[in-house]
Amino acid sequence: MKITFYGQNSLAIDIYGTHIIVDPFISGNPLSKDKVDVLSLKADYILLTHAHEDHILDAEAIAKNTGAKIVSNYEISMHYQTKGFEVHPMNHGGNWKFDFGNVKYVNAVHTSSFPDGSYGGQPGGFVIEGEHKNIYIAGDTALTMDMKLIPLSTKLDLAILPIGDNFTMGIEDAIIASDFVECEKVLGVHYDTFGYIEIEHETAKKKFYDAGKDLMLLRIGESIEL
Ligand code: NI
Ligand code: MN
Repeated sequence: MKITFYGQNSLAIDIYGTHIIVDPFISGNPLSKDKVDVLSLKADYILLTHAHEDHILDAEAIAKNTGAKIVSNYEISMHYQTKGFEVHPMNHGGNWKFDFGNVKYVNAVHTSSFPDGSYGGQPGGFVIEGEHKNIYIAGDTALTMDMKLIPLSTKLDLAILPIGDNFTMGIEDAIIASDFVECEKVLGVHYDTFGYIEIEHETAKKKFYDAGKDLMLLRIGESIEL
């Protein structure tokens, strides 16, 4: 499983040659817009955690360009189906076996309106099991006890957690979240994009290190292999 970071919560995940894009927000992100060409991204699936603009901005462009299927909660899926896109609606607690592996849509504590204020259902995260590796993409969320449910069914290899604070968990709560999901290996996301969520990278890494955990912060376009 190969995971590439495109800023904010935007990720590309390659599993068995299937291309998955998560929360594409690139053309509006000052940190990534000049580094990543949205129309060069390959996608068979686009996973959307919730309807906020910093998670869906480039979803339509990528879906139009690639024919990718949009996977999200029921309300977000219907929003895109009405516009003529192929979708797979899910809801909290539900699993589906896709051709690349199992996806579960899990709880997040956040909000989920579309940029025009219309209802985007309840926000979520994804647990993806594929290619013998299991990852948790928390999406935008507060620290929540519901995270303790995840290791009851899935032994994680990587937790992708927001760490930017203000709109989501900050560093301290993300360290506790890593305990809750029983995964010491964390990829930090949702930081530095706007003034509200700027972090000091070395301080963040040291706090995780001191707690016996490993925080990875990738450059835009950088990949890791699991
Ligand atoms: Ni959000
Ligand atoms: Mn966000």
